[in-house]
Amino acid sequence: MKPIVAPIVAIDGPAAAGKGTLARRLAATLGLPYLDTGLLYRAVGVRVLEANGDPSEPATAEAAALSLQPRDLDRSDLRGPGADAAAASVASIPGVRIALLAFQRDFGARDGAVLDGRDIGTVIFPDAAAKLFVTAGLSERARRRWLELRAKGTGADIATVEEDIRQRDAKDAARAAAPLKAAADAFLLDTSAMDADTAYQAALTFVRSRIDTG
Ligand code: DC
Repeated sequence: MKPIVAPIVAIDGPAAAGKGTLARRLAATLGLPYLDTGLLYRAVGVRVLEANGDPSEPATAEAAALSLQPRDLDRSDLRGPGADAAAASVASIPGVRIALLAFQRDFGARDGAVLDGRDIGTVIFPDAAAKLFVTAGLSERARRRWLELRAKGTGADIATVEEDIRQRDAKDAARAAAPLKAAADAFLLDTSAMDADTAYQAALTFVRSRIDTG
């Protein structure tokens, strides 16, 4: 197979499906840079909150997206219920998505990349060499997220975690601008009954069938 120069691996799927863990591991194996694109929306949402703005107000959110700096992605306050909700709000504003498009394309342009998000294979890199849509049943995703939170010492009950994820998925899938959906040519990976290693092996086999990593 002819090596693909600067290959893009696009990984999309709903909240808490394990995309990040999978994407990070694939990137390390393939020697590609990795971008968690959810952090962009989180950083925009948190900047709006910090300025006492309303994350659902388009002009405010667009201005925050246009002035986003790479160092904003390193903030330590991008996870948590406030950031989750603010990110989901700014992500439904078309102007915010347009403002963040170039950042994502530039990231992969030189050396290729693994990116995870909601619209990587559909909007950001429709010509990606390999596209995966990673999912798992709602109750299984809630169970995994709850275990993660518990390990961090955050007390949350599983029913609340499940309801938060359900609401976020519904918002991501229902928005008019780049809704969460699988690209027609994505490899569907339902990890409901898989452990992380099995999911990783299945993903790697698929990606290697699409790109020659030498
Ligand atoms: O993956 P995450 O939970 O960090 O994403 C945060 C929010 O941003 C979530 O509501 C989905 C949205 N998002 C998006 O709309 N497009 C992306 N490419 C990544 C995330």
